[in-house]
Amino acid sequence: MKHATLSPLPYKAMTVAGVMSGTSADGMDVALVRITPGVEAPRLRLLAHFSTPYPAAIRKEVLSAMNACAASVADLSRLHWRLGQLYAKAILEALQKYPTKLALIGCHGQTIYHQATPQRYCGASVACTWQLGEAAVIAAATGVPVVSDFRPADLTLGGQGAPLVPLLDWVYFRHVQRNRVLQNLGGIGNLTVIPAGASASQIFAFDTGPANMVIDAIAEICFQKRYDRNGAIAARGRILDPVLQEFLALPYFSAPPPKSAGREQFGREFSQRFLARCKKISHRPEDAIATATAFTARTLGIAWKQFVQPTLPATPTDFIVAGGGANNAILMQAIAAELASFHVHISTSDGFGLPAAAKEAVAFALLAYQTWHQRPGNLPAATGASRLAILGKISHA
Ligand SMILES: Nc1ncnc2c1ncn2[C@@H]1O[C@H](COP(=O)(O)OP(=O)(O)O)[C@@H](O)[C@H]1O
Ligand SMILES: [Mg+2]
Repeated sequence: MKHATLSPLPYKAMTVAGVMSGTSADGMDVALVRITPGVEAPRLRLLAHFSTPYPAAIRKEVLSAMNACAASVADLSRLHWRLGQLYAKAILEALQKYPTKLALIGCHGQTIYHQATPQRYCGASVACTWQLGEAAVIAAATGVPVVSDFRPADLTLGGQGAPLVPLLDWVYFRHVQRNRVLQNLGGIGNLTVIPAGASASQIFAFDTGPANMVIDAIAEICFQKRYDRNGAIAARGRILDPVLQEFLALPYFSAPPPKSAGREQFGREFSQRFLARCKKISHRPEDAIATATAFTARTLGIAWKQFVQPTLPATPTDFIVAGGGANNAILMQAIAAELASFHVHISTSDGFGLPAAAKEAVAFALLAYQTWHQRPGNLPAATGASRLAILGKISHA
């Protein structure tokens, strides 16, 4: 490890594109970010943000690659290249709408498999993670160097390889007098805890469990909808308490952090089980959506009571939500109800100059900037890694 600090000396100002595709497999977010050296850490300014949905055929391929027990190697390889093309196209379109001289790209890629807990495989213990989207394709098409494959370096140090957004959370949201808790509501929910005045090494983070993943799956199966827009279906439904109780008892929610989650635990099979239990009690599919929505909120409440509240200094706390789930009014109301007795101030990241949909893409712009300057991007207190690591691989244009 060369530099275990965030000190600004060798940094220079750059405009960086961050590109994110999350576990929802809904599409690509491109953030154009101006990053300049700062006294304690880099400073960031979001120049523009664009969301591009995956074409339906690509989304289908991505989801089937994620869910498959056996996938064709040829198809995986083609998808890897095809996603590289799509990321390049999304970046070039962003630059057309917001012309700027881009120095670097950080592309997370599309996770198709993430297994942070080592398992026996071919005579050895193996943990692994795999993101698709060939960076060489992106570098060639854009003429800009690309940092990709951010997660493996952390994983090889015993970390979960996730979450990686906490560095951005600390750089952008830290406050001397206020505790800041950042909650992302993507397919999976991730939470970062930044006590007032904390250094980067004093913050922690973990995945709370599914955020939109189960809601989306049930919306697709029962309503042929990609998601429950603004929580309209949940608003008509009734929460099925026995189902909540059963699924909240799963060991994931009481397990102490660090921990990370994905489609491997909370994907199609889990959602089908959840839905089947709902159907046993109620024949109204809106009740299943209402229950899945309540489930997400309750998992945040459990995480808060067990792992967050006890660690916070007695000073005001901001709970700042980002990710697509911030648009789900019923989910946001249910989260507010969970946290009501804790007197936290709830808002979305929009109020801090980072649109809820852009935050993760901005994080990968920052992480690419770190890597380019041979600086670490993971926070061991968040991932569980044994030390800081320079993340990713660089593909030159
Ligand atoms: N208007 C909306 N109402 C309800 N849910 C929404 C809305 N917009 C987005 N979402 C939810 O957010 C998800 C996408 O969020 P995102 O932050 O991109 O997640 P990921 O990082 O997993 O891709 C969608 O799948 C959907 O569940
Ligand atoms: Mg997304």
